[in-house]
Amino acid sequence: MLAERTGCVLRHVGVTPDGTLDLADLRNQLSEKTRLVSLVHISNTLGCCNPIEEIATLAHAVGAKVLVDACQSLAHKSIAVQSLGADFLVGSSHKLCGPTGMGFLWASEQTLMAMPPFLGGGEMIQEVFLDHSTWAELPHKFEAGTPAIGEAIGMGAAITYLQTLGLDAIQAWEAELTTHLFGRLQSIDGLRILGPTPEQQPDRGALATFVVEGVHANDIAAMLDLSGVCIRSGHHCCQPLHRLYGVTGSARASLSFCTTHAEIDRFADELVSVISFFREHG
Ligand SMILES: Cc1ncc(COP(=O)(O)O)c(C=O)c1O
Repeated sequence: MLAERTGCVLRHVGVTPDGTLDLADLRNQLSEKTRLVSLVHISNTLGCCNPIEEIATLAHAVGAKVLVDACQSLAHKSIAVQSLGADFLVGSSHKLCGPTGMGFLWASEQTLMAMPPFLGGGEMIQEVFLDHSTWAELPHKFEAGTPAIGEAIGMGAAITYLQTLGLDAIQAWEAELTTHLFGRLQSIDGLRILGPTPEQQPDRGALATFVVEGVHANDIAAMLDLSGVCIRSGHHCCQPLHRLYGVTGSARASLSFCTTHAEIDRFADELVSVISFFREHG
């Protein structure tokens, strides 16, 4: 949408065979014309965790800014946002166990000071003249109108809850679960996992995205649903990535701090039955 509006050129960075971002390709594509490098912290599909510090150093060397979508990492690991090196970091409240319709943009004070407001409304004005206005102090300059007060309080409570559980403890528990999940899935015939394994990338996300030869991901999800097991299926907002892998969609099992080994075993057992059902009945 930004490219359509401004006429800027949109380029895409490739993916390596093990499903991580191709940093050599990124290096080749960066130039002094690059204005913004926008990427996810953890991929919602491949689960890979991108090396933001390294990418930010490369981007800043050519004068580009870096925007990190941290939706998939916020509830799974602690993020030292200032040492990450990103200029902008965004996240959604519902991925943090908070209310829907809410999220946040983080940027350094210096960056926010230099930016004009994107929306007009109540509380974002400092002083009004007949021919111009001046803007309120941060963050009010960017919070035009009556805010989503309840949602903001809810998001704050969700963040406090996760911090009370401890994000380092959550990450350690989910890493153990991810290894178990991969172990179970890797033993299933004809199943291919997309993205790096926990051995290839120990800090990868707590999820596994997979395709099964001859069985559509949506059918797997629908059948598992009947057994009370919820997984996600489809193209996960990543159609170009699926095209790259030569598949039309995939299934994704996602873990969180409250998942148990027993739940993963139940999922894997049900999955094996679903696959044999489709193999037998075509
Ligand atoms: C990486 C990532 N960014 C953004 C979103 C979308 O967030 P929202 O529904 O708040 O737009 C998702 C998931 O839905 C996601 O996985």
